[in-house]
Amino acid sequence: GKVRAPTHIVSTICDDRGEEPTYAGVAMSTIIEKDFGVGDVISLLWFKRSLPRYCTKFIEMCILLCADHGPCVSGAHNTIVTSRAGKDLVSCLVSGLLTIGPRFGGAIDDAARYFKDANDRKLSPYEFVESMKGKGIRVPGIGHRIKSRDNRDKRVELLQQYARSHFPSVKYMEYAVIVETYTLSKASNLVLNVDGCIGSLFLDLLASCAMFSQQEIDEIIEIGYLNGLFVLARSIGLIGHTFDQRRLKQPLYRHPWEDVLYSKYV
Ligand code: ACO
Ligand code: LMR
Repeated sequence: GKVRAPTHIVSTICDDRGEEPTYAGVAMSTIIEKDFGVGDVISLLWFKRSLPRYCTKFIEMCILLCADHGPCVSGAHNTIVTSRAGKDLVSCLVSGLLTIGPRFGGAIDDAARYFKDANDRKLSPYEFVESMKGKGIRVPGIGHRIKSRDNRDKRVELLQQYARSHFPSVKYMEYAVIVETYTLSKASNLVLNVDGCIGSLFLDLLASCAMFSQQEIDEIIEIGYLNGLFVLARSIGLIGHTFDQRRLKQPLYRHPWEDVLYSKYV
């Protein structure tokens, strides 16, 4: 009989062997003919299925709204400094991307994990937040350096507004909002941030669109797909900052002495 030689790689998302490449079985020509957008392509290549338009539109909104947040944030700062050191595009991009993590942009997966666990265990916001405090963990998805009760994050408002009118259910987002009400009673900058908003709303998307089994949802959350949205989105801005610095012919950056506390005693 036939003996199948063992393969060294298993791959399930894109097949380039036929007449035309396919994304999760969908031919490139279909993607173009049907006017698919980047949200559809993300659905195919990340989730291996076509999601309904309200989901792909939400994914696209996340990409559009997280594409950039000015030159002062960790990622853009690194990219700008790297660009001014004369480095190539990829180096500038990755130096910015490397700052994405639990404090900056990369709190989406953990926000989804903790909000899901707390909501499913029916913890009150008090029980949830105080138990996190007891463990010495900052609540992922809560808190911002410049946004606050009186200076709300427009991105969060826009995503919430969209989800409220298009998602079948927003129960996880509502939970995140009552957590925010509690954290805001402690300090005015402890708002639901864009990571927490996307994390909780993606839970709602996964749970309510009837396209995923519970096992698949658990896998998506466990593997940590959702930070990918921020990484992808912010790459757009970081590439923009690289070009901007080059176009402006900015010289090598050196941080000013006056802005450093040189001290042996801290
Ligand atoms: N949960 C609970 N308490 C918090 C949180 C939080 N998420 N954030 C701040 N606090 C409290 C703490 O008591 C903190 O004191 P500590 O340093 O002794 O623990 C106190 O507020 C002071 O915090 P600030 O100095 O005002 O916060 P900072 O500006 O340094 O941090 C940050 C902002 C990094 C976003 C923080 O709130 C945090 O770690 N949040 C969780 C991670 C997160 O969601 N990051 C994504 C941000 S959005 C984005 O990057 C796109
Ligand atoms: C961002 O999107 O980069 C931010 O929310 C972080 C910030 O400090 O503005």
